[in-house]
Amino acid sequence: MMEQTLSIIKPDAVAKGVIGKIVDRFESNGLRIAGMKKVQLSEQTAGEFYAVHKERPFYGELVSFMISGPVVIMVLEGENAVLKNRDLMGATNPKEALAGTIRADFAESIDANAVHGSDSLENAVNEIKFFFTEDEIC
Ligand code: CMP
Repeated sequence: MMEQTLSIIKPDAVAKGVIGKIVDRFESNGLRIAGMKKVQLSEQTAGEFYAVHKERPFYGELVSFMISGPVVIMVLEGENAVLKNRDLMGATNPKEALAGTIRADFAESIDANAVHGSDSLENAVNEIKFFFTEDEIC
């Protein structure tokens, strides 16, 4: 099924200069970049985006980390894009991520884990709407 999903290249990976390498993983695996922007998130925007984790003990650190530098936010489009993106990213904790995944290759820790990706089609729709207007997706 053709799907769209949201991907964020997090501040650690942007600071390392691996935006192009990560984008190549998507494009080389059948995911088209349908939307893309580089932004410095505000505390309010990052906090709202991750509101689902508000009660988790790592919420404060997660928000601080996500505003520690610019991020690259993308809409990825392709067959089974949600699952494909999650397979390409690897496990949330890079120590558990399979060899050859983005997190195994570029991430340092569960906080600085290089990328975010929507975890379901329903969340993908909401996350894309959160960051992109219709005319920014083409
Ligand atoms: P992400 O896919 O962006 O979604 C929430 C983020 O919280 C996650 O990646 C991790 O970077 C971060 N995080 C920190 N600690 C944990 C934890 N114990 N479990 C899940 N996510 C965590």
